[in-house]
Amino acid sequence: MSKINFFSKEAMPLEMHKVRIVQKLNLVPIERRLEALNEAGNNTFLLKNCDIFLDMLTDSGVNAMSDKQLAAMMESDDSYAGSATFTKLENKIKEIFGMEYFLPTHQGRAAENIISRVFVKPGTIVPMNYHFTTTKAHIVLNGGSVEEIIIDEGLKPTSDHQFKGNMCTDKLEALIKKSGADKIAYVRIETGTNLIGGQPHSLENLREVRKVCDKFGLMIVFDASLLADNLHFIKTREAACKDMSIREITLQVAKLCDIIYFSARKLGCARGGGICTNSKDAYMKMRELVTLYEGFLTYGGMSVREIEAIAVGLEETMDEDMVSQGPQFIEYFVNELDRQGVPVITPAGGLGCHLDAMRFLPHVPQTEYPAGALASALFLVSSVRGMERGSISEQRDANGNEVYSNMELLRLALPRRVFTLSQIKYAIDRIVWLYQNRNLVGGLKFVEEPKMLRFFFGKLATTSDWQTKLLAKFKADLGSNL
Ligand code: F0G
Repeated sequence: MSKINFFSKEAMPLEMHKVRIVQKLNLVPIERRLEALNEAGNNTFLLKNCDIFLDMLTDSGVNAMSDKQLAAMMESDDSYAGSATFTKLENKIKEIFGMEYFLPTHQGRAAENIISRVFVKPGTIVPMNYHFTTTKAHIVLNGGSVEEIIIDEGLKPTSDHQFKGNMCTDKLEALIKKSGADKIAYVRIETGTNLIGGQPHSLENLREVRKVCDKFGLMIVFDASLLADNLHFIKTREAACKDMSIREITLQVAKLCDIIYFSARKLGCARGGGICTNSKDAYMKMRELVTLYEGFLTYGGMSVREIEAIAVGLEETMDEDMVSQGPQFIEYFVNELDRQGVPVITPAGGLGCHLDAMRFLPHVPQTEYPAGALASALFLVSSVRGMERGSISEQRDANGNEVYSNMELLRLALPRRVFTLSQIKYAIDRIVWLYQNRNLVGGLKFVEEPKMLRFFFGKLATTSDWQTKLLAKFKADLGSNL
């Protein structure tokens, strides 16, 4: 166990790795940050790295790699077909998931494209604990729809429920009975539920979902992108699993699923993705689309270097020290903000710290995108880049009406093994300052709004000159401090 207790009794995470390569960071003055926000249309996706101090946009493709991953990348076996590197990854997948067939894809959403094209027919439904943006877009693109049947606690911003990512099996059964099992494409479980604050599901819950699926002859498709964090929570929060190894838990999880897919930008700390299954039939149906959209079956759009890195990264994910690092830093981040009265999603989950914009900025209505406004305000006062996970991340419905999200979150992702504790403390310091000056923050409105996945490229303007006032107050309180 890597939870080290300090003699001082201070609750603090401890790195179980050392840093051997560093990248210089820039902290540009607040005036430049305001210009950068204007250039980016207040969309943090459109900011440039040269203006960013702590990049907490995502954990995707930006986790720190290990010495062993880098070493493996040097000995990759490159060939269009039949590369030994691919066989290494295929064998690793067999070992840790116990699944016979593996299809490589260039990243997670490419796996979603293939699974949706094969299994989602017009008019079918995909019940899931909660959607992810790209997942839902692919299902809808293929004429299907998404039904979210998370347990009620999952949508409560503050709770002491340990598994807020659990699916409600009563709602699942009711939905299947109402729509008919033939209308259900498959049941999707997203581990480490991204959009509701990286909240885990339990192994027990997955067993219950399996029972319902068996009753109606339905497949479970498991999105394992955030599995590393969820494994930590199963091990530490689920009493029945406390003596199981991470490897045993992984096998138990996999045994309950028909298809597992993942983004290797998250799981395995590299870049790429893949789909695995024990069903020859499902494999054969998906296989031809891999060669059509991704590349030949032994690379699937990935460079062989990345494939080597995934194989090592997956093995490293079986190490408790490795999977606990992220959640422990996030727990510190969340608990410290909570202690200082800042509204955060509790209990701490995986992926990152999530600020609850509805309670942070209660005076900004959902029509003015509180989570987007908070992302913009926090960047202005700290140069910390977060990601809006609220209504901007939703898509308008078929009639062009806004679809307001259940939660308005500002996600501050912690890429694994990247930030130090003092950097987290800096972020906490600026968030607390912003919370004390929250009345100065106003809303946003779209000035450019793409139809598809608008959060990636949309541009927004402030609804008043609140940013100038916030800048002035920052200068007054913190002086020449950047
Ligand atoms: N599923 C989940 C749960 C994800 O979090 C992501 C990506 C994907 C699928 C798609 O994978 O990016 O490799 O195509 N999440 C990233 C994020 C983008 O920032 O949370 P991808």
